[in-house]
Amino acid sequence: MADLSTGIQRHYGGAAIVQRVLAAVADSGHDVSRLTAEMLYPYDQFHWRSLAATRENAAKLNLDASMHLLDVGSGVGGPARYMACSFGCRVTGIDLTEEFVAAAQELTERCRLSDKVAFRQGDALAMPFSEASFDAACCLNVAMNINNKAGLAREIRRILKPRGRLVWTEATQGPGGPPHYPLPWARNPDISFLVSGRELRSAMEGAGLRIVEWIDETEATRAAFAQAGRSPQPSASSMISNQVIMGDDFAERLNNFGRNVLEERFVPISAIAERA
Ligand SMILES: C[S@@+](CC[C@H](N)C(=O)[O-])C[C@H]1O[C@@H](n2cnc3c(N)ncnc32)[C@H](O)[C@@H]1O
Repeated sequence: MADLSTGIQRHYGGAAIVQRVLAAVADSGHDVSRLTAEMLYPYDQFHWRSLAATRENAAKLNLDASMHLLDVGSGVGGPARYMACSFGCRVTGIDLTEEFVAAAQELTERCRLSDKVAFRQGDALAMPFSEASFDAACCLNVAMNINNKAGLAREIRRILKPRGRLVWTEATQGPGGPPHYPLPWARNPDISFLVSGRELRSAMEGAGLRIVEWIDETEATRAAFAQAGRSPQPSASSMISNQVIMGDDFAERLNNFGRNVLEERFVPISAIAERA
């Protein structure tokens, strides 16, 4: 377990994340002394279809200003800041990778959002929160790094209030065969755990989560990759902005993700559920 945790932190962590992002924001012509969450969106949404997907997934959560959302596997805090800014809700993020948590906190402070958004380091399989303490939860492109899907589903169910909503996105294993690596979440299979959509659904339902909507994101993902007219290449701007945090090989990793979707090795899923 310690090895897996170390492997994941090595994969995602990195030095001077905040400095690199601020330099990129400044290069794009913004005044970083007046930093806003919007200025960070090109760099801080680590899931397929980036901000467009965050918007669509957030809309499924029926959020309002009275609510407290848990972002499980919150990365550098992009989705959390988006939800707080767009709906006025409180957001707590939890993530295994210490350098991401530190960067998430600092970027949030610089955006003057710390009264609404906070982050903690921890494992999604054993979260330091009491039962039924959140109105809603999201878990965006995290579970590919987690073998124990049923344990993750049980833990998210535990912290949700009755009828509390969840959005869980994950690349599931498709019929096309094993994936091409390296990928955005893993450079090799050591830290990547893929299951079929049927297995994922059964893990969620078995944990006491009622599926409200099961969205196959294959076509939307293919369309996003084709947008630049160079299918399956993603747009140049999205590759460059993600490289700021994810490293110079990110373009290759993202291309492999698109190729795996095109070849039906992956079926990207957005599952909307609620605590039964
Ligand atoms: C692809 S990133 C997605 C980040 C964020 N959800 C987003 O969409 O911008 C996956 C994140 O999951 C985190 N993660 C992986 N395994 C985890 C675990 N067991 N507990 C908590 N976080 C985990 C990683 O540290 C990483 O930040």
